[in-house]
This record gives sequence, structure tokens and C-alpha cells, in this order.
Amino acid sequence: PHFVSEKLECRHPTASMPGVFQLAPQEISEEAQRACDLGLQAVLLFGIPATKDDQGSSAYDENGVVQRAVRAIKAKCPELVVITDVCLCEYMSHGHCGVTKMDGGHFHVLNDESVELLAQTALSHAAAGADLVAPSDMMDGRIGAIREMLDSNGFDQTGIMSYAAKFASVFYGPFREAAESPPQFGDRSSYQMDSANAAEALREVALDIDEGADIVLIKPALPYLDILWRVRERFAKPTGVYHVSGEYAMVKAAVEKGCIEERPAVLEIMTSLKRAGADLIITYWARELAEWTKE
Ligand code: PBG
Repeated sequence: PHFVSEKLECRHPTASMPGVFQLAPQEISEEAQRACDLGLQAVLLFGIPATKDDQGSSAYDENGVVQRAVRAIKAKCPELVVITDVCLCEYMSHGHCGVTKMDGGHFHVLNDESVELLAQTALSHAAAGADLVAPSDMMDGRIGAIREMLDSNGFDQTGIMSYAAKFASVFYGPFREAAESPPQFGDRSSYQMDSANAAEALREVALDIDEGADIVLIKPALPYLDILWRVRERFAKPTGVYHVSGEYAMVKAAVEKGCIEERPAVLEIMTSLKRAGADLIITYWARELAEWTKE
């Protein structure tokens, strides 16, 4: 995963994820080259725009931060698979993953209005050259809408990696600081899933596959290994897992305190994800893992 900020001239460390930086737009192609040289097959891009509003309009701007980053990477390393996160939270002034409406002191996320903007966002990423778009918003029906939008605009070869089972999790905390996307009011529990509900996770995965997802993701990783296993066994689809920011930060903090050793800990965690069925792992340790594997 890479965070690219339109507001930066040079890289800026994140507070709770040692080794993870917000990058300036002009640094991203170099980072992609580094990933390529290490033998990594893909990068996942998150954008931090210069301006936010209540329609998330920088998310689907053809010259937005992610769209420019995709073009820069493809110009330098055309072989590297570029995956773009499709969500509105980084682009919305209120930090929610969709369009919101206040109603008698309560807020609602407007599902269908949000899906339209997400489909436009996905189209703009595909037009910039993304190989796979990765919707992480958890609105209903967005996979079908994105598939249709891509197909009808000539992007039938662009794949969809769907965050199919994304749980409302406390482990996204450090990411929200890195991506500057914490919700300004309320929480995400009306659109992300209840961690106690395994049946809903299976239903969500079935729906996304039906609507056209090429890869399904489970997220977070370690607290949901049972879900990963069940999904891989039941659907036999390419299944990925996102070892998220808070999971990374916990290990880093324990290492800094001298409680555990980093390399064996990371290798044990990654092995458990493979054992539970992951075909693909998204991790902030990707570069180190590539180096260790070479050694
Ligand atoms: C955007 C998104 C989030 C993550 C990936 N895409 C944050 C969230 O849903 O709040 C989290 C990734 C991580 O914690 O590493 N919706």
C-alpha cells in the first residue's frame, strides 16, 4: 500500500506506522520502481487530495492525485500491476465513505448516490491505466455498478478486487491518520460489517462474486482468519486478505518495546494467512518480506 498526498513536496512519516510514509506525487514512480526491483507484483494506491468537499469530487477528477500517480507509475514500470483503492472517505469533508444526509440529528449514508460516485471514480482510475480497481466503501450494489460502468466504457479488461467482507474495525485507526480520513461524526458501523456476524460476511462475498468481483478480500486479517478460511473453501475464488494498519502498528510497538522479534513474528503471521487460504496478502511489510525471501 502507498499513500500519495497532493499536498506534499517530499515524504512525510506517519505517526503510528513506523516505516510507512505519505509520499509526494513526484516520488511515487520511484517507489514503484523499487517495488518492481524487489520482485513485488503489485502496488495499491491511496490518495490524499488537496481539497475535500461533500461530494468527494477530487476522487473522480481525471487529474486527481491517484489518477496522476497511476499514469506516472505506468510510464515508468508498465509491468507492475497497479491497484487503486476506490472509496470516498479521503475525499469527503466529513470523512465518510459515501454521501451523507442529516435527518433529525442522525446522519445517513445515501447508498445509491454514493454508488454512482464510486463508479465514476473507478472509471477515472481505469482510464488512467489502473489494472484493478479495489472498492473499499462497502455500499450495496457497487460491484455491479462499477462492472457495468467499466464495461460500457471499453474497460472490460480492468479487474475488480472487492473488499467483500470488510468489518467495522478498531484496527483501521492508524490508516485513518495516514490517509487523513477519520469520520468527523458518527462511525462506519452502518456500512461496514459487524465483527460478530460471520453469516453476513458469506452473504456479502456471494453478492460481490455474483456482481462481478474478480478477487474478494477479507479485512482485517488475524481476527478474521475463520472468515478467510470459510470464504476460500466455499467460493474457491481468488481470495485476498488485508493485514491492516492497526495489526501492523501493534507488532511494531511490541518490537520497539523489546517484547518480540520482528522478522520471525512477521513470518509467522504471514504464514498463518497463507495457511488460512490467502492467495494474495496486502501488507505494509511487503518490501521487507520480498527482501527476506531473497535472502
Ligand atoms: C477506506 C479504507 C480504509 C482502509 C482501507 N481502505 C479505512 C476505513 O475503512 O476506515 C484501512 C486499511 C488499513 O487500516 O490498513 N475506506
